[in-house]
Amino acid sequence: MQADKGIVVKMIDVVKNYGANRVVKKVNFDISEGEFLTLLGPSGCGKTTTLRMIAGFETVTEGKILLHGENVENKKPNERDVNTVFQNYALFPHMNVEDNIAFGLVEKKIPKAERTERVNEMLALVRLEGMGKRMPSQLSGGQKQRVAIARALVNRPKVLLLDEPLGALDLKLRKQMQSELKHLQQKLGITFVYVTHDQEEALTMSDRIAVMNNGIIEQIDTPKEVYNHPATKFVADFIGESNILEGYTEKMENGKMRVLFEEGKALIHGEGVGDDEIICICVRPENLRLSKTPVEGFSINGKVIEHIFTGSAIKTVIELVNGHRLTASVNPEAELFDVGESVHIYWTPERAVVLKTQEDTVYDVIETNPNQAIIDSLTKEG
Ligand SMILES: Nc1ncnc2c1ncn2[C@@H]1O[C@H](COP(=O)(O)OP(=O)(O)OP(=O)(O)O)[C@@H](O)[C@H]1O
Ligand SMILES: [Mg+2]
Repeated sequence: MQADKGIVVKMIDVVKNYGANRVVKKVNFDISEGEFLTLLGPSGCGKTTTLRMIAGFETVTEGKILLHGENVENKKPNERDVNTVFQNYALFPHMNVEDNIAFGLVEKKIPKAERTERVNEMLALVRLEGMGKRMPSQLSGGQKQRVAIARALVNRPKVLLLDEPLGALDLKLRKQMQSELKHLQQKLGITFVYVTHDQEEALTMSDRIAVMNNGIIEQIDTPKEVYNHPATKFVADFIGESNILEGYTEKMENGKMRVLFEEGKALIHGEGVGDDEIICICVRPENLRLSKTPVEGFSINGKVIEHIFTGSAIKTVIELVNGHRLTASVNPEAELFDVGESVHIYWTPERAVVLKTQEDTVYDVIETNPNQAIIDSLTKEG
């Protein structure tokens, strides 16, 4: 098969069933050489399963996975040029830290001097200098996790699969390791497939994010695009904070679309939407504006409920006439509206993102019997 140039991992209509349960539903994506791709999604959405199929620890029910253009269906994990750092990894308990890290190098018959050098480089990288002689039982959970990362990286694999590798670390160490892992990935040019359910981690580290929900990839794009132009309600909700409103388009006027919401009228940029359509829009808190006086084109009014201090910003919560609450992120230096005060809500029309509605998402239904359709048609005819 002709290899797509620069494409390291290619997922083609990949499906995974566990019994009658379809947990990965026709997933398609490509990962380029040297790319940092993150699978992001809530618990149980299929991230680990997807990673394990790439690694070869799990079979593929339907579809194909190509690594460097080659179908790896019949290749064992150790025959694939990938290394994995697992969610629940296990170090060799009878080997000290150095020997754990050096394990892959010994197998590859790398000379002792180079081994020592590479192991020391890794120990420094994961900040475990001086701990090489310790046994795993003498390490904290976070330290063990760092040994696991070092053990995988020392092999300099073409592709590294990482399943929540920083999950057990405290916030400060996690942030440090995030930036170090990212630098290392860039320096060594290793392709990373990274799993996390932490949206901030995904946004700061990735070249692209694949947002998974219920076995489906809802959107795959750069962190900026996924944040600024979420494709679906789920993505808008899962990444960052969102104000989501459902409305009915009226008509375009001067390049802007007038939308009738239950809560009042408003303007959106309107590109790609027609008249008389039901749509969902998302406006990020930092794009929601509040005014004491009415704003042309907008008639959404509410009452200030509370101000929430978040450190870098203040979030003002507004309750609309129908009880729906919206959040506006305001400059902490600015004068705040009084709690209980009535406000007019508006936004720059370009800042309202039109989301794909639920009907557009194709959810696969498992066919319990592949011949069911034929049986059905026969019974109908008869
Ligand atoms: N070996 C298995 N047998 C049956 N069902 C499984 C198996 N492994 C996973 N599942 C199910 O598949 C679904 C996806 O699991 P997966 O581990 O891929 O989720 P995840 O996105 O990694 O979640 P988390 O963030 O909690 O790790 C879940 O509903 C899980 O219960
Ligand atoms: Mg998992």
